[in-house]
Amino acid sequence: MTALTNEERSALIELAAEARRRAYAPYSNYAVGAALRTRSGRIYTGCNIENAAYPTGICAERVAIFKAVSEGEKDFEVLSVVTSNGGSPCGSCRQVMAEFSLDMIVLIANTDGKLLQETTVSGLLPGAFTPEHLKP
Ligand code: THU
Repeated sequence: MTALTNEERSALIELAAEARRRAYAPYSNYAVGAALRTRSGRIYTGCNIENAAYPTGICAERVAIFKAVSEGEKDFEVLSVVTSNGGSPCGSCRQVMAEFSLDMIVLIANTDGKLLQETTVSGLLPGAFTPEHLKP
């Protein structure tokens, strides 16, 4: 697993906090920000974007991942997630993470910049169903 420095952790948490400020969450009032670093060193951020038709909204983590994939990046190293209270990624986001990088590091932090949990996608979703399972 990639070892992160404290500077790298802080920078990714700050980028997620910055993205969180762009959240569009008028229904839940629960803003979420994410910052995803690829192995190529690029960073993609995301925020949650809600909709008046509630299920149409999307989580911050998936916005960051889908932005990256749409730019041709699929090899992810670390994802930071920032919420007011250190909320953990939802099941759908865990599944999307598992599609691409089981060993990706996940940093869960709050808006005070405090890192509450450092884990991996495998840690968040043990026994994940992955593309491997579809191979004959
Ligand atoms: N949310 C995220 O952005 N990421 C998660 O992993 C959990 C939930 C968003 C979805 C919705 O806009 C709000 O938080 C409340 O559920």
